[in-house]
Amino acid sequence: MHIEVRGVTRRFGTATAVDALSFSIERPAMIGIIGRSGAGKSTFLRMINGMTEASAGQILVEGEDVLALTGKARRAWQSRCAMIFQQFNLVPRLDVVSNVLHGLLNRRPTLATLFNLWSEADIRRAIAILDRLGLAEQAPKRAEALSGGQQQRVAIARAMMQEPQIILADEPIASLDPMNAQIVMQTLRRIHDEDGRTVIANLHTLDTARRYCDRVIGMRAGRMVFDGTPDQLTLDVAREIYGADASFSEATTSTSLDVLPEGRRYEQAMLAD
Ligand SMILES: Nc1ncnc2c1ncn2[C@@H]1O[C@H](COP(=O)(O)OP(=O)(O)O)[C@@H](O)[C@H]1O
Ligand SMILES: [Mg+2]
Repeated sequence: MHIEVRGVTRRFGTATAVDALSFSIERPAMIGIIGRSGAGKSTFLRMINGMTEASAGQILVEGEDVLALTGKARRAWQSRCAMIFQQFNLVPRLDVVSNVLHGLLNRRPTLATLFNLWSEADIRRAIAILDRLGLAEQAPKRAEALSGGQQQRVAIARAMMQEPQIILADEPIASLDPMNAQIVMQTLRRIHDEDGRTVIANLHTLDTARRYCDRVIGMRAGRMVFDGTPDQLTLDVAREIYGADASFSEATTSTSLDVLPEGRRYEQAMLAD
């Protein structure tokens, strides 16, 4: 699937949240978007699946501008790109397998949905996906009974139920402890490797992007300031993305960039949960 982002821009009043972003994805890829809070990462991700309208620009998928779609065609596109959020967005009191089945909502007639009439084939598929992600035993439990890391994997299972071509993940590990963060990133990576789906993940830290992605896009104040491989992410580049005032390790080799920029905020995000 060929995706070409052309001059995609979003303004809020006089402020430009995303400023003429352009790049293309030639084949299934695992892409990390990094940048400080407020850089425009979420706004960009939300424009891809139409949750936020673009002010200008195009996103051509196999030559068709998905930003210009309306009605049924627009909904079809939306079901091809599944979204994963920082706060999982599961239905807490509903059992895990039903949460996964909710991935089918935008494909089914409303009435069937109202009466919860999932076909046996759908239920089997939901359980197979949970099994693949190591969550089969959790299937009958309420979502709220699971740990944060497990809940995020259920959200990934729900996304898989849509059989999406693209998985958009907005800070998928920002609310998780390091151990669960690793498992969730490995899960996304596996889905990319084994199923050939494109994953675009907004990530808080450089470290995660370098470890799990093949390609990293750096945003600063709405603009793309870097597009390259993890190897190319030098300390100078990191400073350009995060600003000269960001604190990195004293070391200057690219391998020691593992230190979390904005580390304090990352820890706060974890403590808040
Ligand atoms: N609905 C909105 N109304 C007004 N401004 C917004 C809205 N959503 C985002 N912004 C602004 O757009 C900029 C980019 O925000 P966002 O995309 O959330 O950045 P990030 O995800 O990188 O933290 C910020 O300055 C933010 O305040
Ligand atoms: Mg964001």
